[in-house]
Amino acid sequence: MIQLYHIWKQYQKPHWALSDVSLEINSGDFCFITGPSGSGKTTLLKIIFRELLPTEGQVLIDGVNILKIPDQKIYRLRRTMGIVFQDFRLLFHQSVFENVALPLRIIGLPYKEIRRRVFHALRQVNLHHKMWEYPQRLSYGEQQRVAIARAIVNNPRLLLADEPTGNLDPELAFEIMTIFKEINQQGATVIIGSHDRELIRYFGDKIFFLQKGKIIGKEEKK
Ligand SMILES: Nc1ncnc2c1ncn2[C@@H]1O[C@H](COP(=O)(O)OP(=O)(O)O)[C@@H](O)[C@H]1O
Ligand SMILES: [Mg+2]
Repeated sequence: MIQLYHIWKQYQKPHWALSDVSLEINSGDFCFITGPSGSGKTTLLKIIFRELLPTEGQVLIDGVNILKIPDQKIYRLRRTMGIVFQDFRLLFHQSVFENVALPLRIIGLPYKEIRRRVFHALRQVNLHHKMWEYPQRLSYGEQQRVAIARAIVNNPRLLLADEPTGNLDPELAFEIMTIFKEINQQGATVIIGSHDRELIRYFGDKIFFLQKGKIIGKEEKK
């Protein structure tokens, strides 16, 4: 379970990127954070990933306050998480295989196991035939799938994705969401920042609406 308590985030005075955001997400939820550009979606995801610290507030994951984890122990937390950044953050001088293998190399798994898992992750996103390509030779949608494969190769319990369907045609966007749904059905909690209303309504079990850094609404299916 993920609990955010009274999160405030200020990059520069006097503007608040997030103002008193509190929310709860249950394990196994498939949820969306939505809102107009600049409403704080990316900031919120980065705080949950512990890439950014809030100015005020607490983030509990399974009861652990992740803001109190010292920097040198964050890697342990990250092992349980996967994230797809909006700009993908791929290594362009490394093959698709190496990009996806990265989180496993950090853990120090044996090569055979790395190969097995990378292949499996690339199959899930249907890109195993491009394993030895370099990202600059791939289309935008394919690069996105590399980023997704890298995010799921760890079997994360929590998967975060920032605008994962931005700039994709509707068919490909639906396909990507279906992949996230599969990962969710395998047990992961999924949190997606998006403003694609159609996909949100179709896929989201829980939707949080942000505006100017504030939660202005919540919707739950069922
Ligand atoms: N690194 C930064 N420095 C200063 N202001 C930032 C930074 N990142 C985001 N902001 C501001 O914080 C607010 C929320 O941004 P962001 O979280 O990126 O929103 P969204 O992802 O919903 O578009 C915006 O007003 C944005 O300009
Ligand atoms: Mg954003």
